Formats: sequence, structure tokens, C-alpha cells
Amino acid sequence: MEQRLPEVVMPDCPVNKLLMGQKAIVTGANSGIGRAVAIALGHAGADVVVNYVVNAEEADAVCLEIERCGSRSLAIQADVSSEEQVLSMFSRAVETFGTIDILVNNAGIQRDAPFEEMTLEQWRQVIEVNLTGQFLCAREAIREFKRRGVNSKVSCAAGKIICMSSVHEIVPWAGHVNYAASKGGVMLMMKSIAQEVAPYRIRVNSIGPGAIRTPINRPAWETEAAYDKLMKLVPYKRIGEPEDIARAAVWLASDEADYINGTTLFIDGGMTLYPGFTENG
Ligand code: BGC
Repeated sequence: MEQRLPEVVMPDCPVNKLLMGQKAIVTGANSGIGRAVAIALGHAGADVVVNYVVNAEEADAVCLEIERCGSRSLAIQADVSSEEQVLSMFSRAVETFGTIDILVNNAGIQRDAPFEEMTLEQWRQVIEVNLTGQFLCAREAIREFKRRGVNSKVSCAAGKIICMSSVHEIVPWAGHVNYAASKGGVMLMMKSIAQEVAPYRIRVNSIGPGAIRTPINRPAWETEAAYDKLMKLVPYKRIGEPEDIARAAVWLASDEADYINGTTLFIDGGMTLYPGFTENG
């Protein structure tokens, strides 16, 4: 069994509120990475739309946690792969909060299968949520950012988008071809949007998480044997926690990161360092 390090604990209701006065939408925010990001943005001073598809009670709990530190929140049910639902989510968000400064394009799914057994439905579901969903939300966010322009009272940028990608935007993944293809697509979509809208002071970046302890990859960490096997892929020898991603998302969305544009920040304990080469090659 690998050595277990102490849990990562975030400061409660931090006083240094990096995102004070900003308005954010986090998709897929009822669980996993999205949940932690929504809470961290809220605790950093942003008002947050907590988007979800199912499990309204989970979304409500995230809202309560955001409001506990003084920010406003609003749970909105919308399937990001539906154009109509995305449009209505953005108009409700703007009606309620006045504008949107930050989009965290987080919603994502896996539908794994050996390649020759992968159904068209499994392929489509993953591409539609992970890639088309990010496109639809990013487009609405960019429209709002351009409409409003820079409001220097809240941020020196007109808007920020963070796409939740994966190490699998660069690491091929057998048995998960639909997922890797969607994240590879997110990488060049993010960079192309960033290039196009940079002159409007809009920043578009990705976070590429490695193995993070969330429901999406439960089988990879829930037993001791699975955890030990997973650690062979992680030089830093611990699984990531959703808060590892959340802290970075707050910073990347803030003016502290103002000159960062069109980049993927990998947060993976070194998973992208080709750990197989440690004693080989
Ligand atoms: C996937 C997880 C996986 C991780 C590292 C993520 O993008 O969603 O299931 O554990 O990549 O392979």
C-alpha cells in the first residue's frame, strides 16, 4: 500500500476574496470537480450558477455551501448538449446576476467500451456532452463578454473561460476512444477560441486534471488494489482531490492569471511525465 498523505484542507471562507463581485457559471456543478470548483469560486467572492442535469438536491446543497460564505448562488437544470437549454440557462443567469464574467465548462461524462464494441450512441453521447456542450456554453459566454466588455471594477478582462479537459487531451486512452477524442477536441477548440477572442480581452484556458477522486473514476481508487495500481501512473504518489483543481480554477479565473491565455494547466501529480520511463527506456 502506498503511503497516504494527510488530506488537503481548504481554508474556510477565505478573507482574500480574489473573485469579489464576479458572476460565474459552472456546468456539471452538483458533484465531483464541478462541485468543488463552484464552492471555491463562491468562497472567493463570486456569485455562482450551479448547473446540473440530474440530482437537484445535490445542486441545492452546493448552493447552500456557497451562500454560507456570503455569495449568491442559483441552481439551474440544463443539459449542456442541448442548444435550447444552454440558451435558456444563460439568459436566466444574466437576468438574475446581471452578467457573467466566468464560465467553467466542466460537465463531462465517460461511456467506456473496447473500440470494436463501442456503439454509435456511446460515441455520440460523449462527444455531445464533452465537446459540443463546451462549444455551446463557450459561445454564449463569449457573446455576453463581448456585449459587456471590460468592467474594470471587477476584472481587467472582459471574461474568462476555463475548459475542464483532461490529461487525455494528450495521453491516448485505450478503451476510452470517445473520451480521449472529445478531450483532444477540447484542446484545439480552446486554443482556437482563445486566439480569436484575445483582442477583446477574453481569456480562454483549460485545466487538464489527472486522476482525481470523484464518482467518474471510482473503480480506479475505491479498493486498495485499484489505488495501488493507479499510483504506478502518478509520480507524486497520491490521488488528486477535487479541491486541488478548485484552487487552481479560482486563480486561473482571477486577474492574478491575467496574462495566461490559450494554455492547458495540467494538475495531475506528474501523470503526464511518462512515469513508465522512470526505470525504463
Ligand atoms: C478521467 C478519469 C481518469 C483520469 C486519469 C480523467 O480525465 O475522467 O476517469 O482517472 O482522467 O486517467
